[in-house]
Amino acid sequence: MADLRTRYLGMELRSPLVASSSPLTGSLDGLRRLEAAGAGAVVLPSLFEEELAETGPGVAAGAADQAGYGAGPDAYLSLVAEARKTLEIPVVASLNGVSRGGWSSYASRLEEAGASALELNVYYVSSRPGLSGSDVEWHYLDVVRAVRRATRLPLAVKLSPYFSAMANMAGQLVEVGADGLVLFNRFYQPDLDIEAMEVLPALELSSSVELRLPLRWIAILHRRHRVSLAASTGVHTAVDVLKVLLAGADVAMMTSALLRNGPDHLRPLETQVRDWMDRHGFDTLEQLRGRLSQRSVPDPAAFERSNYIKTLASHPAPGPGR
Ligand SMILES: Cc1cc2nc3c(=O)[nH]c(=O)nc-3n(C[C@H](O)[C@H](O)[C@H](O)COP(=O)(O)O)c2cc1C
Repeated sequence: MADLRTRYLGMELRSPLVASSSPLTGSLDGLRRLEAAGAGAVVLPSLFEEELAETGPGVAAGAADQAGYGAGPDAYLSLVAEARKTLEIPVVASLNGVSRGGWSSYASRLEEAGASALELNVYYVSSRPGLSGSDVEWHYLDVVRAVRRATRLPLAVKLSPYFSAMANMAGQLVEVGADGLVLFNRFYQPDLDIEAMEVLPALELSSSVELRLPLRWIAILHRRHRVSLAASTGVHTAVDVLKVLLAGADVAMMTSALLRNGPDHLRPLETQVRDWMDRHGFDTLEQLRGRLSQRSVPDPAAFERSNYIKTLASHPAPGPGR
C-alpha cells in the first residue's frame, strides 16, 4: 500500500491531509473526529491579536470546549493543552494579527501548553493610499521577525495572495525565519445589501475552482527556498490533493470541504489518493512531489504570462446572434 507519510515544518506526518484553521478544529470533539478520519495534523482556529489585550495569567482549567472565536487567550491555551493530551497527531496553534506587540510572552505559553508548531496569519488589508507595497511587505516581515524571536516552535506563515512579487516575498519570509508558507489565506470580501443600504459580512465556502491560485504559486515556489509549502484554498477532492502534491506541496489543507461534509470526508480521500498512487506506480509521496512544479515541466512558462494569450484564445467564440 502506498506510503502517505510526509514532512511538514520539520515534523513527520502520517498523511498530507491536514485540517486547516476553522470552527471544526476548535472543539475536542471535532479534533478527535478529524484524527480518527485520518488527518495528518490539525491547525486550531486562530487566536486574534485583539483578544490578547484581555489576557490574564495561567491556563483556565476546563475551558477547552468553549475555546471558539473570541473566547480569549486562557481558553485558547486550555484548548492547546487538551488537544495535546488527547491527540497523537501534531497540533498547530494559530495566531492572527497585524502588529509585532503582544505576541512574545504568549508564543512561549503556547509552546508550554504543548503546541507542535505555530501558524501565523497576518490578515492585513491596507486601505491607506500613503502606504506603498514595500511598506506593507516590511510590515509583514516585521511581524514575522517578532514572532520568530518569541518562540522556538516551527513557524508557518499563512499568506495573502495579493503580493506583487510573491517569489521575492516568500524568500524574504524565509530569511526572517519562516519554516513554512501556507498558500493562501482566503480573504472574505464584504458584500452590499442594496435594499437595507448596508455592508454585509459575507462568508462563503470555497470550491475546487479556487485551487488554481495556490496551485500556480506552489508550482513556482517548489524548491526555490528551504521552506515547507502548504496548499490552502480550494482543496476538496482527491484530485485536488494530488494536484497540489504534484505541484510541490508538502501538505494539502482543507476547511470548506470538511465543514461541508464533516471530518469523515477525509476517509475516501485517503483511499482515492492511495489508489491513484498504486495505479501510477508511486510508493511514496516523495516520488511524486513536485513532478509538475515549474522546475520539472518541459514548459515552465506555462505558469507565467506566456500562457495568458493561449488561455484566452482557448475560449470558444460566442455563436451567431450572441
Ligand atoms: C468558518 C471559517 C473559519 C475560519 N477561521 C480561520 C481562522 O481562525 N484562522 C485562519 O487562519 N483561517 C481561518 N479560516 C480559513 C481557513 O483556514 C482556510 O484557509 C480557508 O477557508 C481556505 O481553505 P478552504 O478552501 O479549504 O476552505 C476559516 C475559514 C472558515 C470557512
